[in-house]
Amino acid sequence: MPGDLTAMPAAADDGFDADGALDEGHWTARGPASLQAWARAGARFGALPTLSRGDHIDPALALPGMTARKSLQLHAFIDVASPAIAASRVSHVVDWCAGKGHLGRELARRTGLPLLSLELQPALCADARRLAGAAGVDATVVCGDALGDGAEVLMRTPGAATGFTVALHACGDLHGALIARFEGAALALAPCCYTRAVDSGRARLLSMRARDVAARVGLVIDDRDLRLIHEQVSETGTREIGDVRRRQAHRLGFDAWRRSLGAASYTPVPAIPLSATRLGFVDFGERLADAAGLPRPDSSFAEFEGEGWRRLDAVTRRDLVRSLFRAPLEAFLVTDRACALDERGYEVSVGTFCSRAVTPRNRLILARSRHQRS
Ligand SMILES: C[S@@+](CC[C@H](N)C(=O)[O-])C[C@H]1O[C@@H](n2cnc3c(N)ncnc32)[C@H](O)[C@@H]1O
Repeated sequence: MPGDLTAMPAAADDGFDADGALDEGHWTARGPASLQAWARAGARFGALPTLSRGDHIDPALALPGMTARKSLQLHAFIDVASPAIAASRVSHVVDWCAGKGHLGRELARRTGLPLLSLELQPALCADARRLAGAAGVDATVVCGDALGDGAEVLMRTPGAATGFTVALHACGDLHGALIARFEGAALALAPCCYTRAVDSGRARLLSMRARDVAARVGLVIDDRDLRLIHEQVSETGTREIGDVRRRQAHRLGFDAWRRSLGAASYTPVPAIPLSATRLGFVDFGERLADAAGLPRPDSSFAEFEGEGWRRLDAVTRRDLVRSLFRAPLEAFLVTDRACALDERGYEVSVGTFCSRAVTPRNRLILARSRHQRS
């Protein structure tokens, strides 16, 4: 490992600002010299411009059955998509993998355009139709598979080619399928779940340019790298973070105790409820041993709690180094998706539509056909 990491505090969210973005100052002031240039480069490559005009909850969007956070996501997305819709001559709002269709419905209601949506689950499609009817929105809900026939049906439905398509948190293969066949007038896409866009354990790059760059510099992004994007502290609540860290420390302490008895490698143990960590190290160790079918710890066990926490500190510092790559990696993948749309004949822009506190998957691609200028 390059340099001395012991100067770095080992809290999981250290080195990041309140918004979850890399805090360059923290790394340059306190990180080892050999990592400072990486931190600066990471901050530069990971930063994307803000597309939003600010986060604020619109009470009208706090729809029944939606959390305040989800409402905020929709509001932020709509804030960015609305001007783009107004600037395009489009006939419909098209919602890709729409769930209950909250986003498309709200956009259709505000713009007065008819709604066309695609969703796999029949129950969600039924809800989408009912909610659209109640909101007075003219909606056609295609219930089908975005990776198969459903996409064909949607694309052939009048309005799809001349519509403004929205896709909020379409998982890896779902947003990949949309980009690969997209022929609509314009698109606002917030990608999600990159771990679900892999071929033989490697990230599926959608653009020729990104594939070219990767081939030239020998860049291989494997599924472990992709998981890094989703391992962010802001995706977990504060109480849970404490429990998760305690469970890690207790497991590492348990492992240290097993090694003291002669185990040569890490002892894999089954999952036990997170809340069990609050019972204390010894009780946790007994439960772990029972669940793993191992003999219960003896009286020496309690001494290994400190060793567990020391090991966790070391693991956290190592993970902090990995985390330097998180934002640049996600920026690279979003840029790849944007380049793929550019290669299909779209004018694209990329940025964030809300803060990470609202959703860590806050990157947005706006695309407009070069052949359908307003
Ligand atoms: C993360 S949710 C996003 C829903 C909605 N866009 C939102 O932000 O509220 C993904 C949606 O994709 C739908 N979905 C999953 N696989 C699909 C497929 N193969 N075809 C169409 N929809 C699919 C799921 O049922 C779910 O409603």
